Amino acid sequence: MREVSGEKFEVDDFEETLRPRYIDEYIGQTEVKENVSVFIKAAKLRGEALDHVLLYGPPGLGKTTLAHIIANELETEIKTTTGPSIEKTGDLAAVLSSLEPGDVLFIDEIHRIPRFIEEILYSAMEDFSLDIIVGTEGSSRTIKIDLPPFTLVGATTRAGDLTAPLRDRFGIVCKLNYYSNEELTEIVKRTSRVLEMDIEDDAAIELAKRSRRTPRIVNRLFKRVRDFTQVEGKPNITKEITLSSLDRLKVDNLGLDQIDIEYLDSLIKKFSGGPVGVETIASSIGEEVTTLEDVIEPYLMQEGFIKRTQRGRVATEKAYNHMEVIK
Ligand SMILES: Nc1ncnc2c1ncn2[C@@H]1O[C@H](COP(=O)(O)OP(=O)(O)OP(=O)(O)O)[C@@H](O)[C@H]1O
Ligand SMILES: [Mg+2]
Repeated sequence: MREVSGEKFEVDDFEETLRPRYIDEYIGQTEVKENVSVFIKAAKLRGEALDHVLLYGPPGLGKTTLAHIIANELETEIKTTTGPSIEKTGDLAAVLSSLEPGDVLFIDEIHRIPRFIEEILYSAMEDFSLDIIVGTEGSSRTIKIDLPPFTLVGATTRAGDLTAPLRDRFGIVCKLNYYSNEELTEIVKRTSRVLEMDIEDDAAIELAKRSRRTPRIVNRLFKRVRDFTQVEGKPNITKEITLSSLDRLKVDNLGLDQIDIEYLDSLIKKFSGGPVGVETIASSIGEEVTTLEDVIEPYLMQEGFIKRTQRGRVATEKAYNHMEVIK
């Protein structure tokens, strides 16, 4: 199992346990937090539903967590669904008509809602009304159902895949960014408190540095290092155990995991550093194009290992140095 990819391979209570519930416990993303807090306060003052919110950014940065926090702070209920699970107009109509005034409707992977269903969302978001067509062809008519005012919170790793009309209907658009090492260290310390397993400061810093700047990954690594610590019968997580565990998990000193390394290795050695198309890299290392585009590349780009050009992906000097290959 891949521990460090940032994807949701493990479905357990672990993430739930560690999810901050209120905005004060949510570490980092300062600008987003400040803005969202103001909008929530204003909506509560006016006794209105909060404007619709779009959260976007790479996997594991806290979109789902923030959606739940928004509902908690608004003191309303949250109903959740996902883009791919809405297959028929009836599926969407069912969730929409279950909403109470002020509720949050959280749609994860909102870019995957089928286009013909998306149109129903437009009037729901804009006028809080639901237009459904009833009857058969020839004698069909549209009926309008009033919905209570609600807040749609949409989350996506691919904001670019949303249609313009859908994107424009979100009054509040928040991009989640990669976390700094200091923020991740804080997250590690919080995790250590919640799970009641002490970690030395320099071990926490080391974990933070090697986590692809992603809270989900830092928590996963914490969990693994805790395993090594407990099996060795040690009372707390030391830097020594952290370093040896990370080695065994094949997370390198810059936090790159096996797939990152395979990606760079292929780009540099098979394709002479590019430019080469992402499809070609994907098939050469046996990964999905979407995994590379959504999970692997955003981090490699952010850290300056690769560049995207019109003609394809290119390895940078930093990538050559890291892979110890002379250009
Ligand atoms: N700002 C934060 N402070 C503390 N912990 C966080 C923060 N953001 C995320 N986490 C932790 O990281 C885990 C993953 O976050 P979350 O599930 O919200 O990510 P996501 O952006 O929804 O990912 P995906 O795109 O894969 O759905 C959570 O369980 C939570 O414990
Ligand atoms: Mg999520």
